[in-house]
Amino acid sequence: CGIIGYVGTENEAVEVILDGLSKLEYRGYDSAGLALIEDGKIFIEKKSGRLLNLKKALKGRVDKSCIGIGHTRWATHGNPTDENSHPHFSQDRKVAVVHNGIIENYIDLRDKLEKEGVVFTSQTDSEVVAHLFSKYFDGDMISTLKKVKSIIRGSYALGIIEVDNPDKMVCARKESPLIIGLGKDKNFIASDVPAILKYTRDVVFLDNDEMAIIEKNKVTVFDPQGQPIEKKVTKVEWDTEQANKKGYPHFMLKEIHEQPEVVNKGIARYMKDSQIYFGEEFEKIDFSKIDNIVIVACGTAYHAGLQGAYFLKKLAGIKVDVEVASEFRYSDPFINEKTLAIFISQSGETLDTLMAMKLSKELGATTLAITNVLGSTISREADIVLYTMAGPEISVASTKAYTAQVALMYMFAMYMGIKNKKISIEEYNEYMRTIAEFSDRIEVALENKEKIHELAKKIKDCRNGFYIGRGIDEKIAREGSLKMKEITYIHSEAIAAGELKHGTIALIEPGTLVVVVATQKDMIEKMVSNIKEIKARGGYVIAITKENYSQVLEVADETIFIEDINDMLAPLLTVMPLQLLAYYTAVEKGLDVDKPRNLAKSVTVE
Ligand code: G6P
Repeated sequence: CGIIGYVGTENEAVEVILDGLSKLEYRGYDSAGLALIEDGKIFIEKKSGRLLNLKKALKGRVDKSCIGIGHTRWATHGNPTDENSHPHFSQDRKVAVVHNGIIENYIDLRDKLEKEGVVFTSQTDSEVVAHLFSKYFDGDMISTLKKVKSIIRGSYALGIIEVDNPDKMVCARKESPLIIGLGKDKNFIASDVPAILKYTRDVVFLDNDEMAIIEKNKVTVFDPQGQPIEKKVTKVEWDTEQANKKGYPHFMLKEIHEQPEVVNKGIARYMKDSQIYFGEEFEKIDFSKIDNIVIVACGTAYHAGLQGAYFLKKLAGIKVDVEVASEFRYSDPFINEKTLAIFISQSGETLDTLMAMKLSKELGATTLAITNVLGSTISREADIVLYTMAGPEISVASTKAYTAQVALMYMFAMYMGIKNKKISIEEYNEYMRTIAEFSDRIEVALENKEKIHELAKKIKDCRNGFYIGRGIDEKIAREGSLKMKEITYIHSEAIAAGELKHGTIALIEPGTLVVVVATQKDMIEKMVSNIKEIKARGGYVIAITKENYSQVLEVADETIFIEDINDMLAPLLTVMPLQLLAYYTAVEKGLDVDKPRNLAKSVTVE
């Protein structure tokens, strides 16, 4: 979910909140709502469905307010209905609340409140906060918030307004992200920077358990005990231009096309005198003490982790475990002071990943975050951070952030390879030279666009698809398959090509789509055999392979070539056609590419 709050000059609240919500929609778009204080009353409008529904409902209204809170929802507790949309309000409608996160003890709290006669109007966990705030309101917004915080359990970013305090809003955070934007005669709260970038670049990042009072000309942050504290103001470097579509029909296509530049920037950031240099903090890691590495992440970032582990094994001779963050905490992980635990997260806010990091810290591991968002929770809580420098990624389906993560994992593996004397200086230099030319090669890989668009037209009505590959290609296949299912809703599954014959081949029938990733020299013959097995059952094969593997062209129905490049580096090119294939298929199906159903870009619940 995304939240925004505004305290400022008259007639601006609705405009600022709606604009902010449009930037936060990537965090959830099941419903949207806002609450304002106007003429001594709280006005609330909330609608299920996209933000447009809220905008329509507000059409023609004169904006008289100078304070308000807004919310865009990704449903957890309760269906996406008007009632379950935020803001929630107290029975006397004097308090309105927006919440991101989950109140874990809400059932108990709700029971107690109901026994006291409170009537609930929604099925959400969040509504209890409005009633509790109202029940304990003592005239002081912060002391009331502190009291409420002591009662609720779980994760939250909260924004609260109260009718008798029309010039201030309070907020608090625990696990869920919340920032404060500092403007001139106006201040803001938001889940993420893009929501307020149009108005200010001066940002305060709230830490866990902190609270704040936001007024038009003043922001006061409080520690968990309720004592005022000084906070650092960060200047955000992103510009609004980066968060625009720049003429592309969708953010996803724009972000796909940004990949050449992203790889360049990412690599340049960590190069010094033609050598990989991850910075002072990183250099302090005592690798002689580290005897195991674990990588933890979710979704696309997990796929980048799988690739990272592959590179570390091949280039540095290190065995690495890769775990899905949501499973990690409950798997009795083998973590201790000798572990380097790496957490990959585009947003730096994914709660599963954050919780896995916390556990690793408790168990004594050194934690390294690889993230895209400066100041994100994961970046602040890790011992060391490496930034992917991909710029804001708005499309829910990740593309450029993934590529940047993979590029960074290469660099890390090479760094370790040299350290462990597993690769020679000559090999290292050769890899670095090739990587330095990568942006041009990615441009070339993107030139297949038209052909891929034609293929998308052919496969758009498929109901199922399979993605297969061997070795590193199997990891890419997983990412290609995820992209396809996320945005086209075609059911797809990625499997190791060798596993085909152990079950999945039973599902291949005339016309079944199979996307084959075959770029690895020592496995190309086996891949050709796999294609033949699929063809023998009538499957429809789209193969992605290297220019020089003409044997693939002979057996596949359609072949997309990438340049002939070192096997180890092929993944950075192979993923491009897979992203484009998913993209154009979704476009051909007329789907909302940037905001696929039921998903959210940043999942801040466990
Ligand atoms: C969500 C997004 C995915 C993303 C995953 C992890 O599920 O829809 O695209 O890969 O979260 O996000 P993170 O920000 O931690 O990389």
